[in-house]
Amino acid sequence: MESVDLLIIHANELLTLKGPKKPRMREQMRNLGILKNGSIAIKNGRIVDVGRNLRYKSDNIINAAGKLVMPGFVDPHTHVVFAGSREFELDLKLAGVPYMEILQRGGGIFYTVDKTRKASSSQLLSESKKRLDAMLSHGTTSCEAKTGYGLDVANELKLLKVQKQLQQSHPVELVSTFLGAHAIPKQMDAAEYIQTICNEMLPKTKGLARFCDVFCEKGVFTREQSRNILEAAKQYGLVPKIHADEIVDTRGASLAAEVGAISADHLLRSSKAGLQAMSRAHVTGVLLPGTPFCMMMRTYASARKIIDLGVPVALGTDLNPNCWTENMQLIIQLACLNMKMTPAEAITASTFNAACAIGLQDKVGSLEIGKQADLLILDCPTHQFLPYHFGVNLVQTVIKKGHVLI
Ligand code: NIG
Ligand code: FE
Repeated sequence: MESVDLLIIHANELLTLKGPKKPRMREQMRNLGILKNGSIAIKNGRIVDVGRNLRYKSDNIINAAGKLVMPGFVDPHTHVVFAGSREFELDLKLAGVPYMEILQRGGGIFYTVDKTRKASSSQLLSESKKRLDAMLSHGTTSCEAKTGYGLDVANELKLLKVQKQLQQSHPVELVSTFLGAHAIPKQMDAAEYIQTICNEMLPKTKGLARFCDVFCEKGVFTREQSRNILEAAKQYGLVPKIHADEIVDTRGASLAAEVGAISADHLLRSSKAGLQAMSRAHVTGVLLPGTPFCMMMRTYASARKIIDLGVPVALGTDLNPNCWTENMQLIIQLACLNMKMTPAEAITASTFNAACAIGLQDKVGSLEIGKQADLLILDCPTHQFLPYHFGVNLVQTVIKKGHVLI
């Protein structure tokens, strides 16, 4: 009998998210691929076998009877690197002051920019590491991280370098996005700042970022400004992403299709035509229900409509000082309870589809032979428990690249 490094046996449900034998160009929504009484064998950080009655020997056997085994969560949208906090804004939000007004008064993103500019790299590293630790303990094994609280050449570069250091030192696998176009810094006009982004910041992202994002929103970057920035970013090999139609429909969804974005995120106000364009162009829609939740909004993205129009849907936390959660389990709960996604859809959206939204689908997001062994054991018997037993951490064991970390 072949010997393996780690063997997990007798899972009540093992979610493989295994793809179809003949994959289509880009898959829309994988099934969970539930194995009852499932086992998984791991060697050299990779999955060597998944099935019911596996015949391997190992010094390291975990009996997962009564438990749920599934791929580690992938969080495809975070602003994890920032300094300070904005808990005091809750009183403003409760008094009815809208998000954009807080921003226009110089608070919101600008408050965090001020704190982040003043913070040293080592302070940013330690504050962000703490958040990545919390993400890991709640089951996130890969994530995306955006810059965007620097808003000048030196500080955006500082954030990219902090992200690089986290990438090299933290077990949560981190994919970096340049979001210099997160807001227009005070004392600069839009045209001047866009020039700075295109001529001075984008050339410095080489080797430090994979994606370029833009906050395309009324009062921030217009659709045409966003297009110009993303087209320029493509010249530097960055793949576009867009914060699209979060507060107002600025036709960000169709822009995502036009520029060949890998994802368009938020989509609370997107039109049917915009979503159809995304569907045709295979742009993943990243829904972030934590944001309307913490802003006490009644509107969430229309997940049912988005899915029905054929847009592949992923879920993310949007972790940032306005929406501070590291917990993808909470996001699944909000997706099911407030956006009417089924537990199966929400779990697919938090694993395989989330990996698609950041280009990691060949490596993580499903439990298939040859893939990286990033997986979780949850203290619940079935996947339906994830949205059902809410408000606690159901993750019991976290395995990253075959190592039991928690
Ligand atoms: O995705 N909308 C723009 N950016 C973030 C919020 C950033 C902040 O408020 O600090 C978002 O919601
Ligand atoms: Fe965001």
